[in-house]
Amino acid sequence: MPAKSFFLFTTDIGNIISPTSSALGWRDYLDVMEIIKKRRSIRKYKQESIPNGIINQVLEAARLAPSGSNRQPWHFIVVKDLETKKKLGLHPWAAEAPVIIVGVIDPTEGRWYIIDGSIAFEHIVLAATNFGLGTCWMGRLLKNSGETDERIKRVLGIPKHMRVLAVTPLGFPAEEPKPKERKTLQEIVHYERF
Ligand SMILES: Cc1cc2nc3c(=O)[nH]c(=O)nc-3n(C[C@H](O)[C@H](O)[C@H](O)COP(=O)(O)O)c2cc1C
Repeated sequence: MPAKSFFLFTTDIGNIISPTSSALGWRDYLDVMEIIKKRRSIRKYKQESIPNGIINQVLEAARLAPSGSNRQPWHFIVVKDLETKKKLGLHPWAAEAPVIIVGVIDPTEGRWYIIDGSIAFEHIVLAATNFGLGTCWMGRLLKNSGETDERIKRVLGIPKHMRVLAVTPLGFPAEEPKPKERKTLQEIVHYERF
């Protein structure tokens, strides 16, 4: 497990590179960038179980996510039971991970529920990376009419009015995928106007 915590702020180093920020030193910036760069979608997992303390920290990262008007329209279901995992109808490689986290959003909790839920879910992904864990966003389930979505709701007893936002396996990676290509900054960044 990496020594540094996702939540650790090292203000003692000072504002060496970031003179506009009075609160954060350059190491804070570096830590988050390291995690962002290290993350990959993992589609092969070790059977090794994950300590509950780490799972709780990963969920804590989601709990602390920002949300429109602080409505926090999210729920997270942690599935470890083998039979339940099988019933969810996920790809076999996903169901083999020791833990499945299902992100659920409540459309009655404000207009930003999809964005809010997505931010919280990405917090899970990044916090997991910090602990050396792999994840893979599986988002095709967002379609409310989807058969998989309905099945997951039925198997997990999710209230009818709620929606499955995404599912991720959580486990120690059994593969090291190369980074996928990204568009360049020149292609996506526009200064002053598009
Ligand atoms: C909203 C969303 C939905 C995704 N859905 C799936 C999915 O259903 N199945 C899957 O294997 N990967 C899925 N992915 C993972 C992407 O394929 C992956 O993020 C992308 O190819 C870039 O690779 P990387 O995550 O390793 O950088 C999804 C990612 C996001 C953000």
